[in-house]
Amino acid sequence: MDSIKVFSPGSITNLSCGYDILGLCLNNQGDEIKVSKKSSQGVIIKSIQGYSLTKDIDKNVAGIAAQELLKNIDINFGFEIEINKGIRPGSGIGSSAASSAGTVFAINQLLESPFNHLDLIKFSMEGEKFVSDSYHADNVAPIILGGITLVRSLNKIDVIKLPTPKDLEVIIVRPDIEIKTSDSRKVVKKMIPIEKVVQQSANLSSFVSSLYLEDYDLMSKSVVDVIVEEDRKEMIPEFDNIKEISLKCGAIAVGISGSGPSIFSLSNDNNVSNKILDSIINHYNEQDIDSNGFISKINSNGIKILESR
Ligand code: HSE
Repeated sequence: MDSIKVFSPGSITNLSCGYDILGLCLNNQGDEIKVSKKSSQGVIIKSIQGYSLTKDIDKNVAGIAAQELLKNIDINFGFEIEINKGIRPGSGIGSSAASSAGTVFAINQLLESPFNHLDLIKFSMEGEKFVSDSYHADNVAPIILGGITLVRSLNKIDVIKLPTPKDLEVIIVRPDIEIKTSDSRKVVKKMIPIEKVVQQSANLSSFVSSLYLEDYDLMSKSVVDVIVEEDRKEMIPEFDNIKEISLKCGAIAVGISGSGPSIFSLSNDNNVSNKILDSIINHYNEQDIDSNGFISKINSNGIKILESR
């Protein structure tokens, strides 16, 4: 195989109760990434479409992740990368993770898979470190593994794939602003009172139970953030009103998607999901705030190969 094109989906992380450890893979939003072998060593980014981003391999997450992979294998050829970005950078649905994970996944395929999924998560995380100043795998893990994932450890990477309740879907609305992950992480408090840690631990563990039990009432009580949301929501226009509107429409839970500004709602009924989407967009329209949104099922497969030759 000399060339491969993949669809690398977006993701929602944190899911309110699992800062930096929970994530889920989206179905219908993502980047298309084509990687081809080239005779000279190293990587180049040949083109980027969709959004204006640097092609400098030391400053673009795809180049950074690809170079990390190449440090771990001895080969006498290289790769050129073409990226068609479907996810707007700074939207809170894993734009950088989609590019870095999709690129290392594609290169691994061209090399006939010398690396396993956990290796690919590790390489992709170098891109996350570059854009956010800290290592976290909550975006790249669900993109590579599919479904809903929990990152148990980063020192020696360990990720648990959790069950996906069959009717679960997500509604994402992004107000038309960009928030850099590094800025959004600066508002997260470094010290948390023990009472809040206890409550968040209870929320996280009961959320995991709710997935195994397909118990949407328990999920509703569990997808609650007592640590990060209070500070981050200040950056997101109308967050409290949107939350109220979505819950009134029947959402199971509402929270900030990743580092924002996108807001996610959970639902187990497509009619309710459409009502939530319309109501949130209408509310933003009434406030003269541009926004866009979509509904997605949980993608249990992760990155998809579109073509290879
Ligand atoms: N868990 C990360 C955060 C996701 O909330 O900052 C953003 O990449």
